[in-house]
Amino acid sequence: MDDSRTTEEFMSMKGGGYYSKATIGAKHVIDNAAHLIFDSLVRMNPKDDGTTFTVADMGCADGGTSISTIGEILKYIRKTAPSRPIQMVYTDLPKNDFSQVFQNVHGQTDMKTYIEDIEDLYIFSSATSFHKPIFPAGSLNLGISATASHYVSEQPCIISNHVHMVGSAGEERAAYQEQGRLDWEKMLLNRARDLAPTGRLALFNFGIDEKGRYLGSTGGVNMFDTFNLLWKSLIDDGIVSEEEYLNTNFPQSYRTVEEFTAPLENENSCVYKAGLRIEHVETRVVACPFAADFKRHGDSVKFAREYIPTLRSWSEATFANGLSDRRSPDEQRKILDNFYGKYQCLVEESPGGHGMDYVHCYLIIRKDF
Ligand SMILES: C[S@@+](CC[C@H](N)C(=O)[O-])C[C@H]1O[C@@H](n2cnc3c(N)ncnc32)[C@H](O)[C@@H]1O
Repeated sequence: MDDSRTTEEFMSMKGGGYYSKATIGAKHVIDNAAHLIFDSLVRMNPKDDGTTFTVADMGCADGGTSISTIGEILKYIRKTAPSRPIQMVYTDLPKNDFSQVFQNVHGQTDMKTYIEDIEDLYIFSSATSFHKPIFPAGSLNLGISATASHYVSEQPCIISNHVHMVGSAGEERAAYQEQGRLDWEKMLLNRARDLAPTGRLALFNFGIDEKGRYLGSTGGVNMFDTFNLLWKSLIDDGIVSEEEYLNTNFPQSYRTVEEFTAPLENENSCVYKAGLRIEHVETRVVACPFAADFKRHGDSVKFAREYIPTLRSWSEATFANGLSDRRSPDEQRKILDNFYGKYQCLVEESPGGHGMDYVHCYLIIRKDF
């Protein structure tokens, strides 16, 4: 596998604050599930023993979608354990816009931050993949990760007929499922190592629910099929080559609930043996906020203008990565503008059924020993 297929070589959400401004639905996912994190802290009942309490937001992007929930959690910890210094660590991959994380948290943007409300709080960041150890062993108390674990560490193969594993079949689909299995196990094992005894993980994962639903596929127009059709149509337009189309694959694996829970329930698995136990599991669908707004205002131009940036905020890096390195950055940008412009026109012209409902498997996990 050459480096160009390694996710950390190219992956990032769109920077400069674009991601969290455009991706309000991901904020809803976190805020709506904050009570699961609070309940886990109540069960943890942290001792007020003066030791450092470490919290992580893993796969944080620009930190904007989690900022209000993280703020509330940190306030709760401060109140429950007043003697403990708190370390808040934002982690993502090296190409992430960490400057934007710090600007958001340090109050240099229009985002409401928590930093002035909590004493004895220290903010850090790490660009180490969550597939690797991130913290000194036994030192992480609460690890949160929202809408990130579906990114696999590398693309196991080219998908010949689609841009995403949800549209693949046979051996290609099996390869992505296997990569998803290996990386999930790796992610959990490394957290088992990072976590302190009684530590908790709150993992809100994109996946496939009991009814076969997944992101952008909940009964209306299938978002990933639309991406695929439009990207392929650029070959007919003479804009993208066949090779570039084949090289465009989301480095993602959507897992089922059974796939998420298997290593945590099987007593013979290395994850179970490392002490991780499920405290809570559920699936939920969170409605696309832009499609919901459209139902109220009925203006398809406004819907398309507001909706497409949310798709672009997380998908652009994958489409850009599929394009040949021989193209100049300006040429690449024009192709991407053309592509998302086509998607926008499509939604403007026939808006019915478009939308990106979020489908997650929510897991709360305890480290037993
Ligand atoms: C869709 S964004 C979610 C951001 C934020 N957590 C939220 O819920 O809005 C996924 C993030 O995970 C990051 N990511 C992907 N693979 C990762 C890895 N192996 N280690 C750390 N972060 C990763 C991406 O760079 C991206 O910033």
